Amino acid sequence: KLQWRVLGIESSCDDTGAAVLRGDGKILGEALASQAGIHEQWGGVVPRLAQEGHRKAIDETVEEALRRAGISAAELSGVAVTVGPGLGLCLEVGVRKALHIAAEYRLPLVRVHHMEAHMMVTRLPQSPTPAEGFCGPAFPILTLLVSGGHNMAVLTRGVGQHVILGSTIDDSIGEAFDKTARVLGITQVPGGPHLERLAKDGDPKVHPLPKPLSKTRDKVLLEGCDYSFSGLKTAVRTLVEKELPSSKAAALSEEGLRKAQADIAAAFQKVAVQHLCERASRAAGWALELEPCTKWLVVAGGVAANQEVRKGLQEVAEEYSLQMRCPPPRLCVDNGVMVAWAGIERLVLGLYEEPPSKDGADNHVEI
Ligand code: KG4
Ligand code: ZN
Repeated sequence: KLQWRVLGIESSCDDTGAAVLRGDGKILGEALASQAGIHEQWGGVVPRLAQEGHRKAIDETVEEALRRAGISAAELSGVAVTVGPGLGLCLEVGVRKALHIAAEYRLPLVRVHHMEAHMMVTRLPQSPTPAEGFCGPAFPILTLLVSGGHNMAVLTRGVGQHVILGSTIDDSIGEAFDKTARVLGITQVPGGPHLERLAKDGDPKVHPLPKPLSKTRDKVLLEGCDYSFSGLKTAVRTLVEKELPSSKAAALSEEGLRKAQADIAAAFQKVAVQHLCERASRAAGWALELEPCTKWLVVAGGVAANQEVRKGLQEVAEEYSLQMRCPPPRLCVDNGVMVAWAGIERLVLGLYEEPPSKDGADNHVEI
């Protein structure tokens, strides 16, 4: 098993990722084709365009991962692919490719849940030697998934055994970062990392913004682990309309405008992170009640790259004596490595499908 070579394919959103991992977690080869630049003018990921991007990139990305690993597809032990959640049109491209390879070389096929992959990649052994085994977080694990598509607090008892403690009732935190970035005139997609950069130059105290779910009459929402970011996003929009209408913005110097935008970005980020941490803190309490031996807090998904998010959640972890683990930034975003690793963990447990038939008659993986 330690010598297995598993190909992982990711195509759920706007990045085409592929990687070949050895059974012990060593990354043999990886490749990522980003669609940065394609969706900017539309202000968000356009499914049809993203699908086209994946179609153009998929063969070359998989080949590059194999080439870097120094092996051919015939030498693989299995293929893992993200089957959801994500954009159906995009997932389909990766799934087709995986089915094709698995059928061609008679390989077991592993369906991978995108969120499980984001979380499991933290269990990837850092310096694998067979004797060490897994040196990543052990189950049970409390995971916060903070990405563009999802915002969840999950208690994981084992592979595929998840209890969702809280999720967003409207936007995800990544979405809120991206939409707020747009309101602040940031044109790059996704805007989240650019908003973080802008916020570094701002003073969060200039504009107090309302704390999400602090005034709801719904007791479950008030006292629970769920998230809400759309009210905050709207509050920023209203603030920008009031403080920085185009007439006022035009009158400011470039520097003055940037400072005004930075103050708003900082105010947004502060409240968003506070909300995330308040709810994460409750989720930690709930997780420890359900599984008192929980020792790990995993923070995964694109927003885990945000320094303020990390700082805030580190404090939560310390308060509950949990050890926090985030994937390295390179593995925080969508990538093939996390899919291959989640695939290996599933293969070990026998959670795979027999090779699909070559004629394609029964080749159907539900997305
Ligand atoms: O996990 P991911 O790559 O894709 C999925 O959504 O599944 O996450 C992308 C999200 C985007 O919303 C992006 O703006 C956000 O993560 N993001 C950040 C930062 N880096 C990425 N948000 C805030 N600060 C960052 N540094
Ligand atoms: Zn993702």
